[in-house]
Amino acid sequence: MRLLTEAVGARRVIEIGTSNGYSGIWICLAFRNTGGRLITYEIDSDRAKLARKNFKRAGVDEIVTLVEGDAHEEVTKLKDPIDILFLDADKQGYMDYLQKLLPLVRSGGLILAHNTSNVRAPMQDYLEVVTTKPGLETIFLHEQDQGMGVTLKKL
Ligand SMILES: C[S@@+](CC[C@H](N)C(=O)[O-])C[C@H]1O[C@@H](n2cnc3c(N)ncnc32)[C@H](O)[C@@H]1O
Repeated sequence: MRLLTEAVGARRVIEIGTSNGYSGIWICLAFRNTGGRLITYEIDSDRAKLARKNFKRAGVDEIVTLVEGDAHEEVTKLKDPIDILFLDADKQGYMDYLQKLLPLVRSGGLILAHNTSNVRAPMQDYLEVVTTKPGLETIFLHEQDQGMGVTLKKL
């Protein structure tokens, strides 16, 4: 996460599914070099509370906006371009997040999707689109483990 965030010089990353903030903190470490900011979404209030605590302990709370609520609804408020969209919440929802946010992902931006190896079935529609839609190119990392889809928006 940190390497990819640095590689594209990401200044605006959207994470769907914060949990305790672990991946968010890694993304924020890359922001030391890119000067970016993270907006991350979490539906579970206890997890959101823990993540806020962890962001503060890691010293990154100033560069993180944690939105509590259902990301399917909350992301429709986003208007600005996105450098990296990281999908890591409800797997059957990946397609809906893609439909709502792909128009905001800039050319040269990335869409990352976690669990493409171990939870494939509920995201079949998503996988079909990111591997066939013109203007998108997708590779899969860590296929022997949980799997991470890395999609480049080319157009
Ligand atoms: C696998 S965890 C995220 C892990 C985190 N990205 C990391 O790597 O540290 C998935 C999280 O997505 C949250 N989630 C599930 N459905 C959601 C929704 N519709 N909106 C926002 N968050 C959701 C869950 O509560 C859970 O905390």
